[in-house]
Amino acid sequence: MKKFILAFSLITLATLNTACGDASGSEDDKGTIGISMPSKSLERWEKDGNNMVAEFEALGYETDIQYAQDEIQTQASQIENMVTKGVDAIIIAPIDGEVLSDSVNLAAGQEIPVIAYDRLIMNTDKVSYYATFDNFTVGKLQGEYIADHLNLEKEKGPLNIELFAGAPDDNNAHFFFEGAMSILQPYIDEGVLIVKSNQTDFATIAIENWSSSIAQTRMDNLLTSSYSDETKVDAILSPNDAVAQGVVSSLKSMGYGDDARPMPVITGQDAEAASVKSIINEEQTMTVFKDTSKLAKITTQMVDALLNDKKPEVNDTETYDNNEIVVPTHLVDPVSVDIDNYQEILIDGGYLEESDVK
Ligand code: BGC
Repeated sequence: MKKFILAFSLITLATLNTACGDASGSEDDKGTIGISMPSKSLERWEKDGNNMVAEFEALGYETDIQYAQDEIQTQASQIENMVTKGVDAIIIAPIDGEVLSDSVNLAAGQEIPVIAYDRLIMNTDKVSYYATFDNFTVGKLQGEYIADHLNLEKEKGPLNIELFAGAPDDNNAHFFFEGAMSILQPYIDEGVLIVKSNQTDFATIAIENWSSSIAQTRMDNLLTSSYSDETKVDAILSPNDAVAQGVVSSLKSMGYGDDARPMPVITGQDAEAASVKSIINEEQTMTVFKDTSKLAKITTQMVDALLNDKKPEVNDTETYDNNEIVVPTHLVDPVSVDIDNYQEILIDGGYLEESDVK
């Protein structure tokens, strides 16, 4: 159904296309780049967008940046408008990577290259390149952090863990979970870690839309159903900061956070200011920092190369199969951050201001 509605609106827009001109402006302009971002619901997407606009402007391009408020249909319309305007390339961080193939194919029909940003666009051979962080490693860093901090190499256990994953329609969420489980599964198999709720499969633990409030409700339910005796939960695998903050709220409301019932180890991702604050307050335990300014630079260079008939630099040509092609990818390394290194990495490194986190 989602696909049908999108296809219908694409046809309508394609008809309108013919009436419109070219967005690339005067002859000495380098051109206009369309940037389609999912929403402003997380700080990171705004940072991603602002960084790319600054990088493109520095190279002499104009930009048309749109945020889609996490609405699939809005994102498709915004991309179609970019095609109509005749932008020179489109960068897309999809809300739902499964349903944008028609929009991408429309761009390709006008010879506009499309670059998938952070999240892969599935089911089309018309995605030119993909720029992202090493998503499997993000999950591995979360799993390793739990293993180190619960001392699982030496511990006999059993210690209790509960698992959360990201939005099921986001290709990244699967990589994060697989990366984390590559570290944690052996400890579960040995019985050192126990998932008391028995909820371990991706579909059951995935949090729709990466929503804090859905995560909070799920955590409430887990605590009521599996931890109402005197047992406590020792670790929560959370895929990102938004989910982690929902989990933190639930745990606090159920009495965690004092000496008798200390907070479990709680992972995250994105180095959102609220989560870094929470790490400093010893609620959330870690986050995975992904330097959006690095990703913006690499993406800008990719597009600039493409538009100048050069080959963009990639470092992975095997991992990101979108069901049609393996999309050539440039991966950036993520970094594990906690109370011991946030100052050096995030504040001294210039990603956040001291005042953002105090
Ligand atoms: C991104 C994460 C982000 C999540 C929710 C994922 O695709 O890689 O950085 O936390 O979406 O927006």
